[in-house]
Amino acid sequence: MTARIVAVLNQKGGVGKTTTTLNLAHALARLGSKVCVIDLDPQCHLAVALGATSRQQSGIDAVMLGQASLHAQRLPIREDLSLIAAGPRLQEIEQLTEGGSHRGDLLRKALATDAEELDFVFIDCPPSSGILVANALIAVDELLVPMTSDYLALQGLSHLMGTIRKFEAALQKKYCMRLVMSRYLPTRRLSRDVLETIKKYFPGQILATPIRETSALAECPSFGKTIFEYRPGWRSAQDFAALAEDFLQDRVM
Ligand SMILES: Nc1ncnc2c1ncn2[C@@H]1O[C@H](COP(=O)(O)OP(=O)(O)O)[C@@H](O)[C@H]1O
Ligand SMILES: [Mg+2]
Repeated sequence: MTARIVAVLNQKGGVGKTTTTLNLAHALARLGSKVCVIDLDPQCHLAVALGATSRQQSGIDAVMLGQASLHAQRLPIREDLSLIAAGPRLQEIEQLTEGGSHRGDLLRKALATDAEELDFVFIDCPPSSGILVANALIAVDELLVPMTSDYLALQGLSHLMGTIRKFEAALQKKYCMRLVMSRYLPTRRLSRDVLETIKKYFPGQILATPIRETSALAECPSFGKTIFEYRPGWRSAQDFAALAEDFLQDRVM
């Protein structure tokens, strides 16, 4: 069995990468899959949002520096869900200007040898396009791109597609990419228009369930809880449960 390894990326901040990573991961774990989430953002938001707050403990930083195995860094945080924290040295790695491709391979190799007992690994990327994101792009074959439904998001998406195409050409591979509408406002006309535009450009590549903007999802991180713990049965929990099915069955719009 080989794990599906997915980078959750968008160079724009605040689009819902971390929210999507942890709630989708928890939804899949609740369905019985073995899931690991990796916090590749030096801001450590993923760990905080999951209620794991010890920032000094090493995590994926040590793996990328060749000092620890992926397996050793996995913290069990929920049933069937483990976390690899960012670790205090991740910021340093982002600032490295040399040895980029070599470091990129460390993450890829660790994932190739150490992810066997897992069904899914999600890498929560930082809002940048530096070495850390390059590492993720080298390590994975699948991309999940959370998208807000405003006009500037479309501009950001075309920039992101440029980056993805560059990596595809350099690495001679083709990513399986899916978009997820995050922070969606179904009653707002602009939201619906932007979704229609994205559908035209990315037919069959948008997961079927838009994640609606809700106060509950905005509140979750401050309690260190996923939506299934904070507001089970709420519409946002239903959105993420449906998104997990979309992801498993590749239900798209
Ligand atoms: N669907 C949503 N409804 C309400 N708030 C959301 C939603 N998705 C994300 N947020 C909030 O927006 C902020 C940015 O989301 P986050 O997932 O951290 O984005 P990113 O990781 O892309 O920077 C966070 O405060 C988060 O709680
Ligand atoms: Mg984030």
